[in-house]
Amino acid sequence: MATEPLEKVRQEFLAALAEAGSDPARVEAVRVRFAGRRSGLLRELEDALKTLPREAKPGYGKALNELKKLIEERLAAAQQAAEDAGARRQVLDVTLPGRRPVTGALHPVTLVRREIEEIFLRMGYSVADGPEVEDDWHNFGALNMPPDHPARDSQDTFFLKDGLLLRTHTSPVQVHSMETMPLPIRVIIPGRVYRRDSDLRHSPMFHQVEGLVVDEGITFGHLKATLEAFVHVLFDPRLKVRFRPSFFPFTEPSAEVDITCVLCLGTGCGMCSGSGWIEILGAGMVDPRVLSACKLDPERVSGFAFGCGLDRVALLKYRLPDLRLLFSGDERLLRQFEGVAR
Ligand code: DAH
Repeated sequence: MATEPLEKVRQEFLAALAEAGSDPARVEAVRVRFAGRRSGLLRELEDALKTLPREAKPGYGKALNELKKLIEERLAAAQQAAEDAGARRQVLDVTLPGRRPVTGALHPVTLVRREIEEIFLRMGYSVADGPEVEDDWHNFGALNMPPDHPARDSQDTFFLKDGLLLRTHTSPVQVHSMETMPLPIRVIIPGRVYRRDSDLRHSPMFHQVEGLVVDEGITFGHLKATLEAFVHVLFDPRLKVRFRPSFFPFTEPSAEVDITCVLCLGTGCGMCSGSGWIEILGAGMVDPRVLSACKLDPERVSGFAFGCGLDRVALLKYRLPDLRLLFSGDERLLRQFEGVAR
């Protein structure tokens, strides 16, 4: 009979499969030997069909198809059984150590940003946000820096097409807030800012946080009390806050704000260069020209503003030695903040 070789292969296959049991590697070996595409036994049987006399072909072909079907079905079942057995083995191996889920950590800058936001939210502020691509008016003009103003030089601006630029500070969001919000305005404005500046102490992208309060009767006293409260909650209630006269185009009067060194508490150390003080903020009363530019009446309303580098605050808060750590993506730093959820 022409179908004899088929019967032989069938028996061999069943025997081999029974022997392989649920061992995945052995089931796979059986598959290759019988059903392998290139040189499996089934393939040989198919080739043999062509050499048969015509009358024998239909019977052989039918038996071959049945054999193929059987092999496919039994292989599939054996593969499934091997997989299930593997899964069972894994579930049952009580000697394996447990697997801990890998949890991420929030970046220190995110942590201080959220903490600062919370402090001001508790004082009745809302968090405001603005575009990182700005026009000249919001980044400079409305902030009392007309086109020829010397203060523009210090900003090292990245200019884009069509008069647009990457904002060099978060202060333009003050302008957006005054243009769009009803009084009283109380906003805290964190965000990324950009300057063409890259060396050991500067990164071309860094973070600032800015505050703005505008209403009738706002005074420098409000500014002092607010910043003191902020510093005491964020760092330490023992810190003193000191205002030094300074200049910003968008505030008048303006001040630079120092706090007692968070490391030595004022006795003098390497971080504060022995002075006992660290500068952290710029601040002042919103310049009347800025109020006017935002269509507010300086005769009726007044305001205070302050701004600072968020990255530096993160360094101080977490006692980190180097600004570049924050932007290096080094997991050894980030892992230390695991579980400091906020
Ligand atoms: N925009 C200033 C800068 O980038 C920081 C600043 C200073 C913001 C004083 C203020 C402020 O709101 O009152 O250097």
